[in-house]
Amino acid sequence: MESYIKKSTSEGELVLKQKSPEEISKVLQVESLFEDGFQSAQQINNFISNYLENTNHLKNPRYMGHQVAVPHDLSGIPDWINGTINNPSSLYEMGPAGATLEGFMINFMLKKLGWFKGKNLCDFSRLNQNGSGILTHGGSIANLTALSSARATIAPNAWEDGTPEDLVVMGPSTAHYSILRALSIMGMGKKAFVPIPVDENEVVITSTLEEVYTQIKKKGKRVMALVANACATSTGLFDPLEEMAAFCKKHRLWFHVDGAHGAVALLSKEHRKKVKGIEEADSVIWDAHKMLRVPALCTAVLFKRQEQMWNSFHQKGSYVFHENEAIGIDSMPFTIECTKSALGTKLFWSFAIEGQQALVEFIENSFLQTQNLYNYLNNHEDFYCPYPPESNILCFQYMPEIYEDQQQLALRYELINSGEFYITSCLINKKRYLRTVMMNPLTNIDDYKALTIAIAKYALTVKTIEN
Ligand SMILES: Cc1ncc(COP(=O)(O)O)c(C=O)c1O
Repeated sequence: MESYIKKSTSEGELVLKQKSPEEISKVLQVESLFEDGFQSAQQINNFISNYLENTNHLKNPRYMGHQVAVPHDLSGIPDWINGTINNPSSLYEMGPAGATLEGFMINFMLKKLGWFKGKNLCDFSRLNQNGSGILTHGGSIANLTALSSARATIAPNAWEDGTPEDLVVMGPSTAHYSILRALSIMGMGKKAFVPIPVDENEVVITSTLEEVYTQIKKKGKRVMALVANACATSTGLFDPLEEMAAFCKKHRLWFHVDGAHGAVALLSKEHRKKVKGIEEADSVIWDAHKMLRVPALCTAVLFKRQEQMWNSFHQKGSYVFHENEAIGIDSMPFTIECTKSALGTKLFWSFAIEGQQALVEFIENSFLQTQNLYNYLNNHEDFYCPYPPESNILCFQYMPEIYEDQQQLALRYELINSGEFYITSCLINKKRYLRTVMMNPLTNIDDYKALTIAIAKYALTVKTIEN
C-alpha cells in the first residue's frame, strides 16, 4: 500500500485509466482464482497490484471528483481490524469497544450542534435535555431514518397503519435524490415532495415559503417536514438555514437539515456561520465519509430531542437505555440496519490519527483551495463561474459561448478518459457545468493551473457549435 500511495501521488501519474470489465477480469485472473484459490504469496501480490492498478487513484492530487473522502494513509486500519475480528456495533455486547466509540463520536457531533448536555464526551447517561443520534451506512439511509422520525411525530400510528395520504415534504428541488427515494420507500410517493422555488444558483428563496405553505394547506395537506441543503450536492451552496428554521418554528414543522457534505462547517470557526440555524433543526445528517476523511461509509443521524429518535422504527417505542442488568448502548432499535459495522471506530480513528485540529485544517484548506480556484478561473477569460464558492465544491464552464451543454459534458469525458484529471459535471438551472470538489489535501494551485491547460487542450477535440 505504501508504494501504491507513493506512486499515486507522484508527478505525471494518471488518476484513472479505465479498462473494460472483461479486460479487468482477465488481468485479475478472476475465474481461476475463484475456482482454485491463491496458490502462492506471489499470486496474492500480483492480484493486489493488478487490483490497485485498476482503481480510481483518489490519492492523486488531480482527483477533484465526487464527494468521497480522500482518507489519511492510515485510515484503513479500523477496517482491517474489523475485517479480522468482525464486531458489528449495533448491539453493545457484540462489540463493546466499537459501540463505545460510536457513543463518544455521537456525543461529539451533538456537542457541535449544542445538543449535548453531558459532563464530558464520555458521559453516556441519557440526560433529559440531550439530543441523540446513531451512525449508519451512508447519507441515503440517514435521510430515510430522519424522515421516518419526522413521520412518527406527525403521524404516530404510521408505523402500524401506513403513511396517511395527506402528508407532504417541502424542500428545494435540488434536494439530494435520496430524499425523494425516502418518500417513495415510505409509501408517500415522489409526488409528496413539494419543491420550494430556488434562485439562479438553486438556493432556497425563503420569501416564497409562506406562499408554498398556504397552497399546501389549501389542498388539505399537512407538512411532515421542511428539508434544507447544507450544502447542495451540485453547487456546494448553503440554504438559508436560520430563516428556514424560523419558518418551521412559526408553523411548528419538523426541520430536517441534509448536512451530508456541509455540516463539517460546524468544526471551523471561520465557516461555522454558513450553517447558522442548523442548531434549530429537529434532525441533521452528516456524512463522515465525505469531509471527515473516513473511508466509506459512515453517516451520523442526529436529533435535537432524544425522544424523536425512539419512534423512528416503532409505534410508541419506549427507549430502554440500560435495560435492567444490560450494560451499554444498543443502537439497533434506531437503525435501518440490523447488523452494522463498527462505524464509530472509523470515525474516531480519523480524528485520532493526527488530532482534531488537523481535520479542522484539512476542511479549511479544502475550502480555501476552492476559493483560490474560483479566483483563478474568474480572472481567466475562457472560464465562467456562476457564483463564488461557499464550500469545497465549484462549478464552471469552459467558453460557454461556443461550448454548449452537450459539449461541456463531452469535454469532461475527454478529460477523464485521458486520465490526467478526474472531475465531475452537473446541471444548475438546467445548464451543464463542469464541477470540481477539492477533497485531496495535496491539491494546490499548480494542479488547477494544469487543469485549465488540460481543459483547453481537450476542448480542441470536442466539436463546437461553430465547427
Ligand atoms: C446533500 C447530500 N445528501 C445525501 C447524500 C447521499 O449520501 P450517501 O452517498 O452517503 O448515501 C449526498 C451524496 O452526495 C449528498 O450530497
